Amino acid sequence: MVANRFVRSATHEFMAEDDGTATDRHVELYRRLAEGEVGLIITGHAYVNPNGKASPKQTGVYDDRFVEGLRRITEAVRPFPTKIFLQIAHAGRQTKEKLCGCTPMAPSAVYDPTVKTTPREMTDADIRGTIRDFVQAGRRAREAGFDGAQLHVAHGYLLSSFISPHTNRRTDEWGGSTAGRARIVVEIVRGIKRIAGPDFPLIVKLNSTDFFPTGLHLEDSVEIARRLENEGIDGIEVSGGMAEAGQGSVWKGLRAEDEEGYFVENAAAVKRAVRVPVFGLGGNRTFAVMEKFVREGKADLISLSRPFIREPYLVKKFRAGEIGKSECISCNKCFNPRGISCAELKKR
Ligand SMILES: Cc1cc2nc3c(=O)[nH]c(=O)nc-3n(C[C@H](O)[C@H](O)[C@H](O)COP(=O)(O)O)c2cc1C
Ligand code: SF4
Repeated sequence: MVANRFVRSATHEFMAEDDGTATDRHVELYRRLAEGEVGLIITGHAYVNPNGKASPKQTGVYDDRFVEGLRRITEAVRPFPTKIFLQIAHAGRQTKEKLCGCTPMAPSAVYDPTVKTTPREMTDADIRGTIRDFVQAGRRAREAGFDGAQLHVAHGYLLSSFISPHTNRRTDEWGGSTAGRARIVVEIVRGIKRIAGPDFPLIVKLNSTDFFPTGLHLEDSVEIARRLENEGIDGIEVSGGMAEAGQGSVWKGLRAEDEEGYFVENAAAVKRAVRVPVFGLGGNRTFAVMEKFVREGKADLISLSRPFIREPYLVKKFRAGEIGKSECISCNKCFNPRGISCAELKKR
């Protein structure tokens, strides 16, 4: 049970040691968000295998040695009513050889112009090994005291590239139909439910479109959401975008109120098909608009990323009656390789 409907959507922190170990900066970041009364925090994506590292200073969860550092984060949040989930991820074809120390792998060998690499096609053994990596990461999340975990099935990363027909051209049981393309995710859900227990909430961040004519479309995404619900998934955060399509998930620029929540209509389509909680995302800034999404039944929870970089105490501010909008102007200058921070705030 969450204390309120505000979710801090997964946000890569750029704060880990080179090997992925969590640091004091993570602990302070998440303690502040909990103090700011966020209902549910989802951490930045943590990589389940070094061959799936997406970014420098990314948090790792690929070995038992990371549990201790991750536990320091959950212990800092524990005194507050806030819940915290670990997002677990694999970068797939969106990593670089230099970063992962490997040839990037993907369901099919489809060239990615954004990283200028053709990944190698995964073997059956690679796929089964990756399922095990995710399952072990789920177990570690529970051991570290997280209240749940989120599978990253969005933004063109490995699991997202499996469900997309643009990046998954396989003709074996891991590709083809929507069911085949979603099979790896289904196997991971089953594995984590088995190892971490049915009482350990497991949610998914799901692409609802790749913005590619040959990519994933909303109807497929809705079907996958239904399948995952049948497997016992506990919630679905609806996102979209793939760097290669020229339209990612973090849209730049301030939007008019009636254009806020840029993936919320897709969330509403998923919500019509499932009974589990659905998270509405994308440029949510104005309290009244977010309230309207919930009242109209388009989303059960409201996710925000950048506003919480600028204002970790945003929920507290809303609760105190300062009901307006976030001060975040969506300039995207918070992608700071030395640690996420609001560049606009520093100008003051
Ligand atoms: C600095 C930064 C890092 C992000 N890292 C992640 C991540 O680790 N995992 C993820 O699923 N999304 C990530 N995102 C995307 C956000 O979760 C969110 O989906 C997107 O920014 C749209 O929400 P917003 O308009 O409230 O920022 C990141 C966004 C930003 C700005
Ligand atoms: S730098 Fe600050 S204002 Fe700009 S998008 Fe990031 S949090 Fe928002």
